[in-house]
Amino acid sequence: MVRRLYNFLMFSSVVSAMYSSKAMEGYPTGYLADCPGGDREAIISRKTLKYLTLTVIGKGNIQNVKKTRYTYFQMKSLAKDPDIDFKKKTAIYVGGYLDSPNFPFASVLGPAYKKQGYNALLLDTNKFTTMEYPVAVRYMRPVGQHVAEMLVNLTKEGLDPKKVELIGLSLGGQTVSFIAKNFKRMTGVTLGRITGLDPSGPCFRNLGPDDRLDQADADFVDVISTNIDGFGMAAPVGHVNFYVNGGEFQPGDILWMPCNVLCSHIRSYTIWLAALQNPDSFIAMQCESVQQAREKNCYDNKPMVTNVLGLETDHNKTGIFFLATQNNFPYYLGTNGLKREYEFFHAHMKEITDNDPMKM
Ligand SMILES: *[C@@H]1O[C@H](CO)[C@@H](O)[C@H](O)[C@H]1NC(C)=O
Ligand SMILES: *[C@@H]1O[C@H](CO)[C@@H](O)[C@H](O)[C@H]1NC(C)=O
Repeated sequence: MVRRLYNFLMFSSVVSAMYSSKAMEGYPTGYLADCPGGDREAIISRKTLKYLTLTVIGKGNIQNVKKTRYTYFQMKSLAKDPDIDFKKKTAIYVGGYLDSPNFPFASVLGPAYKKQGYNALLLDTNKFTTMEYPVAVRYMRPVGQHVAEMLVNLTKEGLDPKKVELIGLSLGGQTVSFIAKNFKRMTGVTLGRITGLDPSGPCFRNLGPDDRLDQADADFVDVISTNIDGFGMAAPVGHVNFYVNGGEFQPGDILWMPCNVLCSHIRSYTIWLAALQNPDSFIAMQCESVQQAREKNCYDNKPMVTNVLGLETDHNKTGIFFLATQNNFPYYLGTNGLKREYEFFHAHMKEITDNDPMKM
């Protein structure tokens, strides 16, 4: 017994004297990586299809904007809505778990796209996500199929699939994938663009490209990652993948207290909203790997390849990008974001560690 304790202590002291490494520590598997049974078929009856609706955003500001709702069965009427013009691009926002077009995310993002000259549509999946999360995950597959049917009928009324941009937040970032995959299966045509705002990792992160968001889903897929080991996913599944502040946790109000899992996850949305209003301001640098992005260590790559997060992203500069931001809206750092000394933790840690409160 004493000998075992002695051996244990000897061994521990050997381990603690070694420098750590990722090989020794291991890598995170991520929150709820697998959901056994999550691929079981879910069926939406014809009676409940009416809860699948698209809301057209009209003119007006956020408080008094005109909103007109069309059910699954009313696509012909939607195409004739006075606020729809299929010569323009069409943005469709798809919310996450428990989200609704009446809640703030959609209420703010819809008018923001309208202001950019888009037809702005909000998909309501609320009825199909108001249940336990792993069940909602199962429902996103048939939701994807039925929304694709809605889009196919809209193309008969003049919608150009190449002018369609799906924006999905969290679970919505996976729902948009199922919409696009079904649309492609039914028409042979890929949609123009998908923007994934920290697409859900729970129940998805270990699945293959047929069962989660993937770059094959649209002509261009960009992913904004803000909480990759928590509610988001770590894999670079888009053409352009932004790992904001390394993608793990976002800076909060107190330097050494990051905003928590949900706060970091939602940051993908607020950053996207800020990028709609500040199109050239979120300048990111290319990394060699997700690991390098996590370590915020892409500053010295030569040559430095940059890309901008937002509607102006250069589609030809693909890969993994690190984006540094501040902790408050509108978050962007402009070209300062390309300098290591402006990286949030680096910039503010020294102010704190220089402080000696007991010195008097
Ligand atoms: C699409 O159009 C076909 C033919 O008019 C109709 O039978 C079907 O119900 C429509 N589906 C949707 C989702 O609008
Ligand atoms: C991207 O590449 C395509 C095809 O090579 C080219 O036509 C297009 O102009 C390029 N776009 C930009 C922004 O460089």
